[in-house]
Amino acid sequence: MAPMTARFTRRAGLVAGAAFVATASGAHADESTGRGALRDLADARGIRIGAAVASRPLANEPAYRETLAREFSSVTCENVMKPSFVQPAAGTFDFQASDAIVAFATAHGMTVRGHTLVWHQQNPAWLERVAAVGENPADALRDHIFGVVRHYRNDGPAPVPVWDVVNEALTDNGLMRDTLWSRALGPRYLADAFRWAHEADPDSRLFYNDFGAEGMNRKANAVHAMLRDLTRDGVPVHGVGLQMHVGIGAGHTPSVTDLAANIARLRAIGLDVHVTEMDVKLQTGTGGDEARRTDQAQVYADVLGTCLEAGVTSFTLWGFTDAHSWIPGFTGKPDGALPFDTAYEPKPAYHALARVLASD
Ligand code: G3I
Repeated sequence: MAPMTARFTRRAGLVAGAAFVATASGAHADESTGRGALRDLADARGIRIGAAVASRPLANEPAYRETLAREFSSVTCENVMKPSFVQPAAGTFDFQASDAIVAFATAHGMTVRGHTLVWHQQNPAWLERVAAVGENPADALRDHIFGVVRHYRNDGPAPVPVWDVVNEALTDNGLMRDTLWSRALGPRYLADAFRWAHEADPDSRLFYNDFGAEGMNRKANAVHAMLRDLTRDGVPVHGVGLQMHVGIGAGHTPSVTDLAANIARLRAIGLDVHVTEMDVKLQTGTGGDEARRTDQAQVYADVLGTCLEAGVTSFTLWGFTDAHSWIPGFTGKPDGALPFDTAYEPKPAYHALARVLASD
């Protein structure tokens, strides 16, 4: 990926030390903008601002609940809508954990991005086996998609208007990833999955979601070509999720020029574009110093500013507090990739997001 070539200094005007003040509404405001929480600012710009949500802190930590409800207008279940959670045994669906998150979202006027129906990770052992031995794998996948999507259409706490139907089906080289589903069903599993999801809920917007395909690189070219072909063939795919797991430093974030160009070509084939999983690694093995946090804020500002200009309609972070991020569990080291620190205090990244949303 190319390093950043342009910056949104006009928009960001970063203020590392800006204080947080309570407003009459009980919401919080960024002193540097004099305006409200992220979700209020985002509403005014016509964009949803979201966060991935984990069940345990949602149940156990008041600060987690309060910050989430105050700042965000969209939620994604970080894990509990995935197959291993919602269909742990064949034909036995368990929506307790995902329904709790959807109910919280609904109670606080937030929308839900459904994540994810078809992936090569977090599948229950029985489903892995069915796919491996070729025991009617198409029926199993179809039944899974129907079971989950129909639950939220008919019986859940609220409809889920957007689904990440297929997640991460391509490699960095732009080839079809070798997965349980590509082996069992061949490349047609993508089109089938979208058709089944559409049949299960014709009102939902259906997304393909992937990482490392945000700028103009080989993988992004392949995502674009694949989605162009699917839409040309009448497959009901409505949008693309750019995950945006990026980092500070050259080469860890696409240039704003590449990001804008990629979003434009995806929109030109009729797709909605969402940012679905943004975080910005400091890559220190620690929570980072002030200089790194300022660089991180600039990355958040650059990406959000580009997305607003390019017509992105939903911007989701993969978590919101450094107290609960997938990165330490993955790398084995602390990082500090999110806009709130471990004590739920806003970092420069938070103020940068607020200022970009507040600028016209
Ligand atoms: O559920 C078990 C629990 O029973 C056990 O006690 C615990 C012990 O480690 O592990 C739990 O499973 C963990 C699971 O998250 C649920 O918490 C897994 O170990 C852990 O590997 C898993 O990580 C998730 C990861 O997807 C799986 O690949 C992360 O939390 C989640 O943030 C991450 O999310 C993905 C998106 O879905 C797709 N895009 C990339 C993104 C980051 O990897």
